[in-house]
Amino acid sequence: MWPFALAVDLQRGGLEPCNNIIERHLSDMRGMYIDEAATEQAIAQGDPLLYEVNQYDVPFETGQLLVVTTVIQPGRVGDEYYMTKGHFHEQIDRAEVYVGLQGQGYLLLETTGGEFEALPVKPGTLTYIPPYWAHRMVNVGREEFIFFGVYPADAGHNYGDIEKRGFVKVLVERDGRPTLLLNPRHEMR
Ligand code: F6R
Ligand code: ZN
Repeated sequence: MWPFALAVDLQRGGLEPCNNIIERHLSDMRGMYIDEAATEQAIAQGDPLLYEVNQYDVPFETGQLLVVTTVIQPGRVGDEYYMTKGHFHEQIDRAEVYVGLQGQGYLLLETTGGEFEALPVKPGTLTYIPPYWAHRMVNVGREEFIFFGVYPADAGHNYGDIEKRGFVKVLVERDGRPTLLLNPRHEMR
């Protein structure tokens, strides 16, 4: 394979060239927000775009790296901020790096053993996601929250475990501030 360069739009999050763009609407995340009535109402009222992922695909082989930007819109479902679905890597021992580019967010992380961490992310914050940690980004600001990521191309994504249980904690707005609460659904599923 030949080396290459691409342009990262640090303000808006685009990659040029880009060969894999994924859009996630609220209807792609049914059951992931606590407030199911608010979820269904927002879907009925136009099914908002929550985030867009721009990835430059190279062969999904051991040794290769994937580069990716994600743009999460500002907003909430009920009290809960817009966020990514979140996942473990299918090859659970694969790590990842995220770098905040624009806006204000949090990285939520947890292990299958119940360990949990929440790291604030602003432009210039580099977060290191070690092997075995599930990860989700949350936009707690009033602007788009944009971050860059790089991860092993053979990592794959396991969404199922997070879809079933969610994370241990959720980020909601209380008195105008982002607040971590225990996820009432975590043990129920
Ligand atoms: C790749 C990775 C990110 C996310 C992206 C969207 O391993 O962590 O590129 O895939 O931020 O989040 P998900 O995949 O959770 O919908
Ligand atoms: Zn990942």
